[in-house]
Amino acid sequence: MSKPKVLVARAVFPESIARLEQHFEVESNPTDESWSRATFIQKLQGKQGVFTTGSERVDAEVLDACPGLKICANMAVGYNNFDVDAMSARGVLATNAPDVLTETTADFGFALLMATARRIAESEHFLRAGKWQKWSYDMFAGSDIHGSTLGIIGMGRIGQGIARRGAHGFGMKVIYHNRSRLDGALEAECKASYVGKEELLETADHVVLVVPYSAASHHTIGAAELALMKPTATLVNIARGGIVDDAALAVALRERRIAAAGLDVFEGEPKVHPDLLTVPNVVLTPHIASATVPTRRAMADLAVDNLIGFLVHGKPLTPLNPAVLQAGR
Ligand code: 8YV
Repeated sequence: MSKPKVLVARAVFPESIARLEQHFEVESNPTDESWSRATFIQKLQGKQGVFTTGSERVDAEVLDACPGLKICANMAVGYNNFDVDAMSARGVLATNAPDVLTETTADFGFALLMATARRIAESEHFLRAGKWQKWSYDMFAGSDIHGSTLGIIGMGRIGQGIARRGAHGFGMKVIYHNRSRLDGALEAECKASYVGKEELLETADHVVLVVPYSAASHHTIGAAELALMKPTATLVNIARGGIVDDAALAVALRERRIAAAGLDVFEGEPKVHPDLLTVPNVVLTPHIASATVPTRRAMADLAVDNLIGFLVHGKPLTPLNPAVLQAGR
C-alpha cells in the first residue's frame, strides 16, 4: 500500500522529517525557500497533509485548489493563518501546537518587558556606538518592574504564565482584561484582578498584550488607547502583528506619550513600520518569543504527532475543529 503524501512547507528539524518519513511520502523544503502562494498550491497537489508554520495562509482558495488535503498541522499555537471555518466546511482538519510553548513564551514576554522598562537595548546601542564617556545620575534611568502594576490583555495560558511571574516573582500587582473572566481559583493562583480595558490602560505601569489575532482584536491598541496610558508606561506586544496600530504607536513613542515599547510581532512582518526603526525607545525582536531549542522541538514534534495521529491512527492530539472527526470524513 502506498504511503500518504505530506508537504512540509518550511525547513524544520531533520529529526521531524525523519519521523514523518517513517509513515509518509514527504516533500520538504530543506533550503527554506520562500514559496509563492501559487507554488504552495502546486506543491500541495496530491498531498493529504501539510505541516505549516504561521507564515502559510490556508484559506478557501487554497482548499478549493487542493481537494485531496485532509489535515493542516500548524507548528504554532496561534492559527490566524488558517481560515478554520473554510476548513471545517470542506471537512479538512486543523491542528495547532498549544501548551508546549506556554512557559517559554511567558519567559520571553517577561524578558521583553524588562528590556523595555530598563532600556537595555537602547543603552547597549549607546555603548556599542562608543558614546559611553562617563556615569551620570539619569543615564538610561527607566521604570521599575518590582512592585509596579502589570496589566495583561488576553489571559489565556501565556497571559497566566506572565501574571504568575509578575505576581510571585516580582511582587507586582496584576490586573487583567479578557473576553471572559477567569474562575476564582485561577485568579487567586495568578493573584490577578479582572478590570475593564480602559481601567487597565489608565492604571497599569506596564501593559502586556497576549490576545489571539482576529477581526475583533485588530488594533486593540490604537491612538485612543495609547492616549489613555500613563506617560511613564511601557507596552509589550508578544501576541500578533495587527493587535497594535504600529503607525500610531511610533507616533506615541516619538512624542513620549508613553515611555517605551517592546515588540516581538509586527503588522505585515517581516516588514517593520519604518517609523518604529527610527525611534529609540522601542525594543524590537523578530518574532522569537517561542524560540528556545527544546520548545521549537516540542512544537515541531506536536505538529508531526498530529499528522501521524490523524492520518495513520485517526486520532489527532490537538484538533481545532474536532467536529470534522465526528463527521467521519
Ligand atoms: C511561532 C507563534 O514561532 O506559536 C505561535 O503562535 O507565534 C510562534 O511561536 C510562529 O507562529 C511560527 O510558526
